[in-house]
Amino acid sequence: MKYIKDQENLSEKIVLLRLDLNVPLKNGMITDQTRIDKILPVINFLIKKKSKILVISHVGRPKGKVDKALSLKPICENLEKKLNQKVSLIKDNILELKRDNLFNDSKEQIIFLENIRFYEQEEKNDTIFSKHLSKLADIFVNDAFSCSHRAHASVSKITEFLPSYAGLQLETEINALKKVTTEIKKPIACIVGGSKISTKISIIKNLIPKFDNIIIVGGMANNILNYLGNPIGKSIREDNCESIIEDIFKTAKNYPCKIIYPEDVVVGKNKEDKAQIKELNEVNNDDLILDIGPRTINKIKNIIENSETILWNGPAGYFENPSFALGSYEIAKKIVEKSKNNLIYSIAGGGDTIAVLNQISVINNFNFVSTAGGAFLEYLEGKELPGIKALN
Ligand code: 3PG
Repeated sequence: MKYIKDQENLSEKIVLLRLDLNVPLKNGMITDQTRIDKILPVINFLIKKKSKILVISHVGRPKGKVDKALSLKPICENLEKKLNQKVSLIKDNILELKRDNLFNDSKEQIIFLENIRFYEQEEKNDTIFSKHLSKLADIFVNDAFSCSHRAHASVSKITEFLPSYAGLQLETEINALKKVTTEIKKPIACIVGGSKISTKISIIKNLIPKFDNIIIVGGMANNILNYLGNPIGKSIREDNCESIIEDIFKTAKNYPCKIIYPEDVVVGKNKEDKAQIKELNEVNNDDLILDIGPRTINKIKNIIENSETILWNGPAGYFENPSFALGSYEIAKKIVEKSKNNLIYSIAGGGDTIAVLNQISVINNFNFVSTAGGAFLEYLEGKELPGIKALN
């Protein structure tokens, strides 16, 4: 792999910089800026080298259609303030864009293309689209470890058409994850939550041989509860997961790994509702499961107490509403309590998990915090991520 930090002669070169600025947005406002802060080093590095920086990122999952709510505008404005330097956003159709249209103002140094997932070619890893993107620049830099598990045009295919380098944050994340996966102390537990069920549920099975406890919370836990015959009302769930779950339980029987899932839950009639604690069999048809219950919290805390290493990806509930944030906060606080006394090695990953840690100001009490969610889990699985493979 070639690293951008080792490159000379970047002056006046157009650098196509793939970032993951997929930050949480609420009504157009950024609710957690960590992913923006983490890419400041690579931007500052390229500014110093006098490169022209052409940024590509996605936000959300617009599925190949323009969605104004998922524009990169608020992110550009935020970055502009942080850098105290102009950041332009090109809203024109990327397919009609030519290199000559870019950086015509000699003072202009940072240009963003609009959300790359507005183009269906991105997720299809389309060759013609990648080739077109490559014509806009001289070199490609991937500083988006957190979406390097996606074989997408601006992450993977693009490397076939431009000299390609690893960015500073990507290098940091890989080195840190390499270290923790080779120097792990047991017992080790993994907490997997969040709402991206489809991304994560198929990964669990492959994690079983590596962990003593796998704790499933958040959206995925609804699928498990439902599979075991419990009512889940209107809660989020993924369709057609039964055989995947069956495989998880079957595989776990062959290893000393316990699969932990909620024993009680917290529900609301909608996401803005107040919290109501319920036993599993008490969930009504019009209930949404939005957090784990107190018995489950205690069980998880007990596992953390008896672990030497903990990896956490994905909140336990709908933490955006404080009524449903208790499960996530209690998990975080227990990990921090042990981390402070050096009794556990703690790693957290993913945009929403970072947001939880920031809400209660404990992000600096974890040994390592990765910007990556799905990519972090796939890396733990031992998979070679398409974005990294492409750089190699
Ligand atoms: C993430 O937030 O984990 C990355 O931006 C990838 O997003 P995706 O799961 O929508 O591909």
